[in-house]
Amino acid sequence: MSWHASVLTIYPAMFPGPLGHALAGRALERGDWRLDVSDIRSFALDRHRSVDDTPAGGGPGMVMRPDVLAAAIDAAAAAGPDRPRLLMSPRGRPLTQERVRELAAGEGAVLLCGRFEGVDERLIEARGLEEVSIGDYVLSGGEIAAMTVLDAAVRLLPGVMGAADSHVEESFEDGLLEYPQYTRPQVWEGREIPAVLVSGDHGRVAEWRRAERERATRERRPDLWAGRRLSSPSRLDKCDGLK
Ligand code: ADE
Repeated sequence: MSWHASVLTIYPAMFPGPLGHALAGRALERGDWRLDVSDIRSFALDRHRSVDDTPAGGGPGMVMRPDVLAAAIDAAAAAGPDRPRLLMSPRGRPLTQERVRELAAGEGAVLLCGRFEGVDERLIEARGLEEVSIGDYVLSGGEIAAMTVLDAAVRLLPGVMGAADSHVEESFEDGLLEYPQYTRPQVWEGREIPAVLVSGDHGRVAEWRRAERERATRERRPDLWAGRRLSSPSRLDKCDGLK
């Protein structure tokens, strides 16, 4: 049985969207993963097909109803009850490559796309939803966030990605950003490829790349840089081993 994603949304026509193209799209066609998309509105309980209502205590916007969402989640969960249930939300824990790897190693995921001001908190508790954020900015809904989670997980599934990209995860594993890349032409708009990269000296190339990775991480991601230096001795040993 292939990796199984169930997406719950009020905009089912947004899917597969980008996930129907390129690496994820080809994997979907091959059956390396399966995507079911449910329209939350089809689980509405009234003739107006409403999925939201005004917030208790007042305030702007609308809140997604727990009863309608529970029916949608329970129907999706029936087709794979052991999968984690994710709620895409800017209030969630930030997504990490480590969590993506865990998700890809499992049976799949149920992804609930939030809209409006949020979802009723009781639903999150009662269905054990894991709130996931893809970053510190607010999207107009969880759909693009769900696509992001799926894209990141699907490329890690067995047989989906060739060996070519596999080093990119290692960059997050050892806590350093990637080194800069160059290709032909050797001179472009008066700018040259760094001489060391065309020297043929593999040792010096490796040293230069390592230094560039450290510099980029220090300058752009002081959080990663600090985390790396505070990490466990075994991880530091691994880093030293690369020198
Ligand atoms: N929905 C709106 N903003 C989001 C974010 N940053 N991450 C996940 N889901 C969201």
